[in-house]
Amino acid sequence: MRRPDPHSYYDASQPKARRLRLRLGVDFAAKRIEGEVILEFGQEIGGALHLDSKGLEILSVQVPGHGPVPWDLDAADAILGQRLCLDLPPGTFEVAISYRTGAEAMALQWLEPEQTEGKLAPYLFSQCQQIHARTMVPCQDTPVVRVAYQAEVTVPEGLTAVMSAGPAGDEATADGRHVFRFTMPQPIPSYLLALAVGRLACRDLSPRARVWAEPELVEAAAWEFAGVEDMITKAEGLFGPYPWDRYDMLVLPPSFPYGGMENPRMTFLTPTLLAGDRSLVDVVAHELAHSWTGNLVTNASMEHFWLNEGFTVWAERRILRILHGDDAAALGWAMGQKALEDSLARFKSEPHLTVLRMHLAGIDPDDAFSSIPYEKGARLVAALEREVGEERFLRFIRDYMDAFRFTSITTEQFCSFVEAKLPGALETVNARAYLDQPGLPDTSPEFRSVQLDTLSVLAERWVEGARPSTHQIGSWKPAELQVYLQKLPRSLSQADCAWLDGHFQLMGRGNHEILVEWLTLAAAADYEPAFPRIREVLLRVGRMKYLRPLYGALGQHPRGRVLARAIFAAASPGYHGLSRRVVQSILATYPD
Ligand code: BES
Ligand code: ZN
Repeated sequence: MRRPDPHSYYDASQPKARRLRLRLGVDFAAKRIEGEVILEFGQEIGGALHLDSKGLEILSVQVPGHGPVPWDLDAADAILGQRLCLDLPPGTFEVAISYRTGAEAMALQWLEPEQTEGKLAPYLFSQCQQIHARTMVPCQDTPVVRVAYQAEVTVPEGLTAVMSAGPAGDEATADGRHVFRFTMPQPIPSYLLALAVGRLACRDLSPRARVWAEPELVEAAAWEFAGVEDMITKAEGLFGPYPWDRYDMLVLPPSFPYGGMENPRMTFLTPTLLAGDRSLVDVVAHELAHSWTGNLVTNASMEHFWLNEGFTVWAERRILRILHGDDAAALGWAMGQKALEDSLARFKSEPHLTVLRMHLAGIDPDDAFSSIPYEKGARLVAALEREVGEERFLRFIRDYMDAFRFTSITTEQFCSFVEAKLPGALETVNARAYLDQPGLPDTSPEFRSVQLDTLSVLAERWVEGARPSTHQIGSWKPAELQVYLQKLPRSLSQADCAWLDGHFQLMGRGNHEILVEWLTLAAAADYEPAFPRIREVLLRVGRMKYLRPLYGALGQHPRGRVLARAIFAAASPGYHGLSRRVVQSILATYPD
């Protein structure tokens, strides 16, 4: 037995599935999916086959032309779930498994109509990264294995299904439901399987890009993301032709636990990006960049997650630089620096989670999640770029993508490739310190601009009474205000809070990065006028990036803690399982 991924029961001595055929019946009343998956191997196989499954009810296992085959579910591991052991007859080409999803399927969130914009119909969405695909489909749930897939999804009439795949037709069924067909011809890792079902409308943004959202939001979404074709074109200029045919996006309900998820052909996005001024489209640049870094060249396991996210943050800021200039990119790096420092502080007593090359046996990858693989990883990539020069580095990146396209690789494979193409560069930038040592090496690249220096100095001098001028207040772009707020001291007085809100109109901001930065400062200052807005945001939005700092800051004062507990009691039934877990862990650190 050889298990290359500590988060999967996949056994490398066994054959890999090549393609999945899915039939999914979405049952909103029972909040479960009735599923059948056929795993195709593309060759004759036989003997033991181990799959990942978590909370699934297995109904039958059949080999077409042969009949039922014996199967067994091992005892459940809290992180991995249950190993599903099949014993396949010789000459097996494919195996069909009928199953039902469980009530606690972490990949799925079932929303009541009230949790949607239109409040008219229920909604379902999946989130499979990191290791939740196994709660939706029994499979080899590791990025070491890549599969093409086709799917048939049956939903109540009037609702629309979308997947991380191309559409392949839809029709009404005899029993008054509707079936949607999909096909994903390119091989993807299981964490990129994705499904959403709801009342959906769409708008074309270009011949190859479209945005989906509830009808109430679709115009706003089309306006916010109107620039996406330009972004795709710029990204192609850097990384080569877009490899996935279409780039569509879905704006989800506000309980979606992430900012964005790079599901191929259908990026999932939080509605908090709809700021009304296009100020948060860097998240789209990020998810789009994953089309190359992550989806085309993929981390072989979560121990190499930085290969996905570090590269993508670097790529996102490279795109941003072309679109909006050096200053905008420098602000992006500054926001990243803050996120990195916060994460390093959070993991102060767990230094093993601050290295890039992680060792995660026995560790839930959702617990290891932080900004470190993103920002420390991006800094390693940027250090290599600075070392060899932009032009040579871009040629290297294109070679890298050619060499590893549609494969999943480890940090070691990456390092050997760099050594072959850019000999000595890893050594010069001290890559080891990034990969295997905690914290951030002090040789890591700095990103400065005049504007950034101005913001830093002004924020640092807050305590001495320095305040932004009327001109600055009127002229700062959202990203500048965000960086300024991030750089302010964490312990403001009530009067400081009133000054900031009065001059920047913070309470009414539609840009959630600014709004949450402000509300976090206000919560840390025990500033009561902000409490109603904090309650409103926490009751509506389930994005973990916002829950963490807000619940954290509320914990600093007795009445903040009372408020936080009351909000959580009311909000938690509407949170995604992942978000609920994160908030519970924060509340558990409160002193009383
Ligand atoms: N792939 C991630 C989201 C993710 C990470 C889901 C780990 C599950 C486990 C996505 O690309 C991402 O990084 N999203 C960020 C966007 C940001 C860095 C621009 C987010 O959600 O905030
Ligand atoms: Zn990402």
